[in-house]
Amino acid sequence: MVPVRVTLTQHPKEKPQDESKLGFGVIFTDHMFVMDYNPEQGWHDPEVKPYGPFVMDPGTVVFHYSQEIFEGMKCYRRKDGGLQLFRPRDNFARMNRSAERLCMPQIEIEQAMAGLMELLKADADWVPSTPGTSLYIRPTMIATDIMLGVHASRTYRFFIICSPSGAYYENGLAPVGIYVESELVRAVRGGVGFTKTGGNYAASILAGDLAEKKGYSQVLWLDGRENKYIEEVGSMNMFFKFKDALVTPPLNGSILGGITRDSILKLAQEMGVPTQERRITVQDVFDAAARGELEEAFGTGTAAVVSPVGRLMWNDREIEISGGEIGTLTQKFYDRLTGIQYGTEPDTLGWVVPVE
Ligand code: COI
Repeated sequence: MVPVRVTLTQHPKEKPQDESKLGFGVIFTDHMFVMDYNPEQGWHDPEVKPYGPFVMDPGTVVFHYSQEIFEGMKCYRRKDGGLQLFRPRDNFARMNRSAERLCMPQIEIEQAMAGLMELLKADADWVPSTPGTSLYIRPTMIATDIMLGVHASRTYRFFIICSPSGAYYENGLAPVGIYVESELVRAVRGGVGFTKTGGNYAASILAGDLAEKKGYSQVLWLDGRENKYIEEVGSMNMFFKFKDALVTPPLNGSILGGITRDSILKLAQEMGVPTQERRITVQDVFDAAARGELEEAFGTGTAAVVSPVGRLMWNDREIEISGGEIGTLTQKFYDRLTGIQYGTEPDTLGWVVPVE
């Protein structure tokens, strides 16, 4: 592993005064971690340095063909003031799965961890302490060759930036309304749906805009082939609590393998809640609702945490879930998960990594 060079800023920025108004991903800290790759040297020059712009040639591959991947994780401040991360190595491992699909180089997980730890030490004072807030961490890899041919780049840049953030949804834990998209698709079999690449999110913006205009916070995507199986909400995996089990779509290659999704499945096991990873149609969900067997629905994600879904709109029909309130099980998962993340609940599954 190459030692991380640390160059601290001489011009620290003013930190936000009111942590209740952080928003999501709009303020950035004083430093960033950067390292570069070429086939001759591998990853080299890892450095924590003052946060600032990259000067890049307009012909750089990432601007043209979106050879880019990213991750999302968070650093939490415990009550005793200490800092901790939640399953960070799982995020870097997922980044390597995205990298393989996008023909990008693997990162050495311990090298990325070392860079992240140095960055968090430099920016420790930026981690907010108000309940529900955290430091959102965005590791990213971009292709840096300058060329217009459609091939994998030879050179890359990996960087990590951080943003003190509040809840992803404006109204915090209030149940969100979700629009089931029946025309546009997010991903298809054999595509890049399981990766965290910017293009997946770019492809979702139009549907998101249309849904917002209709009064819904997010879009629920259906499979790209038959247009009937539930996939994911771009920023969240979905869970449905039916009478007999908690159900989530399986990792079929076109949805993201969420770290929070996996955590909920494991916590459900710990709590004795039966779970099923199985294909489920939107019709199944609406039928179960009509029979009174759909008890709760929620989404999971690093940014979104556990977000109750209060309304689902599909083909001009809307159902209300849990009376539009946060469901009992949803609340239990939220409390247990955030309890582990903020260090107020026992970390029985060994997920927490302290920043020391
Ligand atoms: C995350 O939950 O970390 C994500 O990357 C979702 C994002 C698009 C806000």
